[in-house]
Amino acid sequence: MTAAALVSVLPLGWSPFLAQVPILRPAHPIRSEVECSWHDSVSSRRALIAGNWKMSPATFPEAHELLKLVAANQRSLETSGRPTIPEVAVFPPMPFLAEAIALLRGTTVKVGAQNIAGRPGPGAFTGEVAASMVQSMGVEYALLGHSERRVLFHETDEEINAKVLVALRAGLRVILCVGETESEFDMGLLQSVCAMQLKKGLKDVTGERMETVTIAYEPVWAIGTGKSATPEQAQRAHGVLRSILTDMFGADVARAVRIQYGGSVNPENVDVLMRQLDVDGVLVGGASLSADKFARIVEVSPLPYVPAPQPHMLSARVAVLCKNGLGESPVWSERHQTLFWVSATDKELWAWNLHDAPWYRPLQSTVGCVVLDSGGGIVAATEHGLVGQTLEGTTSAIACAPEPTSLTRPNDGRVDRNGHLVLGMYNIHHRSGATAGEDIAGLYRFANGSFHQILDYKFRVSNGIAFSPEGTTMYFCDTPTRKVFAFDYSSDGPLSERRLVWTQPSAWPGGPDGAQVDAEGKLWIAISGASRVVRIDPTTGTVDMEVLVPVTNPTSCTFGGRDLATLFITTRRVDSKGGELYAVDMPFGIKGLPEPEMRM
Ligand code: PGA
Repeated sequence: MTAAALVSVLPLGWSPFLAQVPILRPAHPIRSEVECSWHDSVSSRRALIAGNWKMSPATFPEAHELLKLVAANQRSLETSGRPTIPEVAVFPPMPFLAEAIALLRGTTVKVGAQNIAGRPGPGAFTGEVAASMVQSMGVEYALLGHSERRVLFHETDEEINAKVLVALRAGLRVILCVGETESEFDMGLLQSVCAMQLKKGLKDVTGERMETVTIAYEPVWAIGTGKSATPEQAQRAHGVLRSILTDMFGADVARAVRIQYGGSVNPENVDVLMRQLDVDGVLVGGASLSADKFARIVEVSPLPYVPAPQPHMLSARVAVLCKNGLGESPVWSERHQTLFWVSATDKELWAWNLHDAPWYRPLQSTVGCVVLDSGGGIVAATEHGLVGQTLEGTTSAIACAPEPTSLTRPNDGRVDRNGHLVLGMYNIHHRSGATAGEDIAGLYRFANGSFHQILDYKFRVSNGIAFSPEGTTMYFCDTPTRKVFAFDYSSDGPLSERRLVWTQPSAWPGGPDGAQVDAEGKLWIAISGASRVVRIDPTTGTVDMEVLVPVTNPTSCTFGGRDLATLFITTRRVDSKGGELYAVDMPFGIKGLPEPEMRM
């Protein structure tokens, strides 16, 4: 019987064909995948993030909306330049499958069915859906053995095994769920329960076929309870599962099989779960019904299999009691052996040679940043433009601001390794919560006496501008997005090849602010709002060092002092707290690079 015939004789029920789109994808779709190996150096396991919608949402329009958002989020992830993207699949209820396939076309998100019949179709089995039906629509996965089907619908291991075999024969990939109940866990039966479920559920599945099977370890006590397994519990259980698979299929197959964790996964706990060696993805229930939560889970840190070492913690001490309203833009002059910085809203330039008392000088207008100039002076990027300053205090106008409007002002800036100033702007309504037209600030390079826009999109708050030691990579972030990007950089063209370096953990308040690169090329960035400066390895996106600052809003940092081995940190005052300059001595071997001077 054809799909069209089925539609005409089955007006009710949950047939996947109800949406009347007979074949939306070829049975074996050819995709232009964002191919990326998740586990390059350790194994070939690429993480699989799957969203199990269960019997939600309640209506077709709600499903349509959710799918549209999932598709939009995935598109922006896929065009973000992120080096590794996990495989993603969603499992909507049967009546929404056709819509899912239609709306997710053009993204790499795969669509799965939450259940299939345990026998091949067609046939007289009222209410059942055959694997071949969904597979021929473009569905690629079947989710089988979920504890809700085992417990509420009394599916036995034998029935689950029949479904597994039918699904595989029809060309579907399978996620087979296993897991113990709370009392089984308490009685120490995790291993024997999971071994039974795996052995029975995978009976007659060959080692070769295991290539298309993913195991989801879902402790029943963690599903829908908000009580996720701890990362250690998950790792232990996944290790147990892998050794059961080794007994069943041999070490090579067991090493290659992906094992997802499922049970109350959310954006807050996904990162630590995914850092476990044997956790190769997550199966998400409740949180997958929010497109943004699901997107955050999909954006999980790119190298989850590398157990991230605890970051090394350092503490900053007060260096200057300057009480800046908005301390910013510290730069160390090797020539003067002096640290310069600004208090942006107080319109002040500050300086300290580490020995004598610090001094400050008023500027004529709000100042975003200061840089060193090759004539031995300072250039301040103020709301009225670039102003040169000799150390004796003589000032000279250099250029008007690149956006001479009342809506933006200069903010973060740094001199590239060829002596050109790169200056980012700031939407002055940012703090009052600008909504309409908020992305109005641009990024510019000052060369040959004028500003040239070097980023092809506008943003709200420029920050994080820093250059790799060789000067061919520039870092940048638009603070409200909480994402730090790297770009290919050359002194005579626009930024290109944007790639995501790091996303601020959702549990931390605030956002990334000013940044500096050390001699090893690691990126130090102040997290304003989260009382810390972090060191990020841009090649892996991992934070390996954190400096705790005893005030809420560190704003920027740079290296200075003897051997450039001290990190100086500016801060913002809120009420009467903060605004001091902080310093922290670096562990042996970590140091900065000389700050380039601006060549006019
Ligand atoms: P949960 O469900 O994330 O809502 O706990 C997981 C699952 O049932 O697969």
